[in-house]
Amino acid sequence: MAPAAIQTETVTVPVQLPSAIRLNPKGTGQYKELAPNKFDPETELGKKEYPPAKYPNYLPTWNPEQKYPPLEPFEHYEHGKDADTTYPDLLPEGVATVTHLTPTIGTEVKGIQLSSLSDAGKDQLARFVAERKVVAFRNQDFADLPIDKALEFGGYFGRHHIHPTSGSPEGHPEIHLVHRGAGDNGADKYFENRTSSVAWHSDVSYELQPPGTTFLYILDQPDTGGDTLFADAVEAYNRLSPAFRERLHGLRATHSAIEQANASVNRGGIKRREPVVNEHPIVRTHPATGQKAIYVNPQFTRDIVGLKKEESDAILKFLYDHLAYGADFQVRVKWEPGTVVVWDNRVTQHSALLDWKSGQRRHLARITPQAERPYETPYEG
Ligand SMILES: [Fe+2]
Repeated sequence: MAPAAIQTETVTVPVQLPSAIRLNPKGTGQYKELAPNKFDPETELGKKEYPPAKYPNYLPTWNPEQKYPPLEPFEHYEHGKDADTTYPDLLPEGVATVTHLTPTIGTEVKGIQLSSLSDAGKDQLARFVAERKVVAFRNQDFADLPIDKALEFGGYFGRHHIHPTSGSPEGHPEIHLVHRGAGDNGADKYFENRTSSVAWHSDVSYELQPPGTTFLYILDQPDTGGDTLFADAVEAYNRLSPAFRERLHGLRATHSAIEQANASVNRGGIKRREPVVNEHPIVRTHPATGQKAIYVNPQFTRDIVGLKKEESDAILKFLYDHLAYGADFQVRVKWEPGTVVVWDNRVTQHSALLDWKSGQRRHLARITPQAERPYETPYEG
């Protein structure tokens, strides 16, 4: 039905309700819904058997009155291009401790405060994160800042994305919250029907200008579990044969917000904007590093433009499997109190894990600056 409409540059697709999840008829949608149960406010405030939320100012609210028009294009400025790549302001010698977690992806940094960075330091942060793909900064004061100060910091890197369906702190829709309340038995329920909670994706890749440098900071966490997996989509591209890489160049794929919006509406959640479908190149180039990355993911990508369904399904399944099985270009970040993880959504994929059964609260906040519209540069061999 209407594949031509899907193949236009930007399509606003009205959601038909109360329909079940509407899949692109040609698509390979594998969208996994991991939304938590509604939380009990009394439990979150510590009035029952669990300790209170450490950051009650960050508890989620869902305001059905928040209705926004479609996002407008804007010009993104990539600060990573301006960075001194010896990183004197971000990683001053003798002050910062830098530990690479794997050869290509993942670094742990101790000894510096993100909130004190100068603009030069922020430029270096954007570039360092683009190079290392994901960086865990330990012992940060970020969660203790007033929320508007945290947003001011994040706003340096791009226009704040307001998520179409997620909860946010009262008055701050620019903050995307990841919150599973204390006592939530969602893991038990989830695994009645699924074998794994792994759901690789790049955040909101369906937007015309998806996010680049992205911040996620921990507020409350289980004693163990709830780590976050990251995959290096540049190394994944580089592992492919020249012939296959060359074939991927020039191909474009659709990315859909429809399933996520429908899932939210079907559970009584919010829908701040009508869902969009956008096309992006399968191989995108990073504006600061020039590196090329695979940019399709099973949560939001639906089909390859111009191919028949079986062709599209086969290539996408291969790319999803390649990224998911590539433990030799992945890293697993363990959260600690005070950790801020910064990653570049243009050149990575990630997955949360729903693997703890202690009923302990997991609560994080994300700041999601949008970046340029994905583009590709020619195959270089
Ligand atoms: Fe995500």
